[in-house]
Amino acid sequence: MFVCICNQVTDKQICSAVNEGASSIDDLSNMLNLGTCCGKCKSCAKKVLREAIKENACAQTVAVGFSPALASA
Ligand code: FES
Repeated sequence: MFVCICNQVTDKQICSAVNEGASSIDDLSNMLNLGTCCGKCKSCAKKVLREAIKENACAQTVAVGFSPALASA
């Protein structure tokens, strides 16, 4: 879904940006130009950003907790 209509930024792009290290609206503005036109998308973008950070943190926990050596044993 589009989060920033002015700059055609989607929620998937925000998730990718979080995976690349984005952690704030300023980061998303710098990386994706999100919110640099009318700015009406910023409150929605904050929610999407928060969710993406939470999901990313969960994904990293699962990845760190997984051990191929244990899986094959
Ligand atoms: S909708 Fe994002 S800057 Fe206008």
